[in-house]
Amino acid sequence: MTAAEAVREGVRRLAAAGIEQARVDAERIAEKALGVSRTELYLHPDRTLSTDESAEFDRLVERRMRREPLAYVLGEWGFRKLTLKVDGRVLVPRPETEVVVQRCLDLLDGEPEPAVLDVGTGSGAIALAIADEHPGARVTAIDVSAEALELARENADSTGLEVAFELQDVHDGLHGAYDLVVSNPPYVNPEEIEQLEPEVRDWEPRIATVGEDHTAVIADEASRVLVPGGHLVLEVADGRADGVVRLLSDRGYDDVRAGRDLTGRDRVVDGRWPSAR
Ligand SMILES: C[S@@+](CC[C@H](N)C(=O)[O-])C[C@H]1O[C@@H](n2cnc3c(N)ncnc32)[C@H](O)[C@@H]1O
Repeated sequence: MTAAEAVREGVRRLAAAGIEQARVDAERIAEKALGVSRTELYLHPDRTLSTDESAEFDRLVERRMRREPLAYVLGEWGFRKLTLKVDGRVLVPRPETEVVVQRCLDLLDGEPEPAVLDVGTGSGAIALAIADEHPGARVTAIDVSAEALELARENADSTGLEVAFELQDVHDGLHGAYDLVVSNPPYVNPEEIEQLEPEVRDWEPRIATVGEDHTAVIADEASRVLVPGGHLVLEVADGRADGVVRLLSDRGYDDVRAGRDLTGRDRVVDGRWPSAR
């Protein structure tokens, strides 16, 4: 079987399994199974697959057909400038979260050594991207999941970035003093999860997706650890930005605003803890 034939067959099988972007997925899987770049895949469509490559391609396509997220099947995922290891221990980092990081970097612009706390770090995506793109930042990241922290530490090692990781439940209270607290908390309501696509519903950790009070708890806890004038930046569910803007305003944050993601939806809310109360 040639590379082009493998991709064609992969597209057919993935589409039959209900995968929307079957071509993109089949190509990414072929790149991994053959150990080649996208360019090499396009330049050498007639390259014959070895028996091992063919078996690996089939194995990965079958995983994806079971609606396992592409990122888990590939074992890595791009987030801003980083390539992070991802697997069933963590949420797959999303494009909208890259916008959350950008908002943090904009707010930290001009601060030489800001102290930053990432609440619910998962793969370490937000914490590591801030450490990467703001070299002066001193970044701490917490998560209640020991498994997630294990993977986040692996990502810190593989990227060579420094972040202090701590196993901690935000409900037990935050400690320290920070110029910026950021979080992409679990925000899917328990009754909503069954309606979500199988990749999220059946594969991503429930502790990373389902949460009812996390946003409010983080807003309360952040106000205890933010230095005067410090910022809280939150990713919010589609359609919930107005409610979170009200929540932060009611709790005493100033300059509360909602920002758009790449598709124009309000998905980032931030506020400043006042300098004087
Ligand atoms: C939506 S995921 C975000 C992961 C990562 N920050 C990202 O944006 O890709 C939420 C994370 O919060 C963690 N988490 C859930 N409940 C928590 C709690 N009570 N305290 C601390 N972390 C929590 C989960 O384990 C998960 O890693």
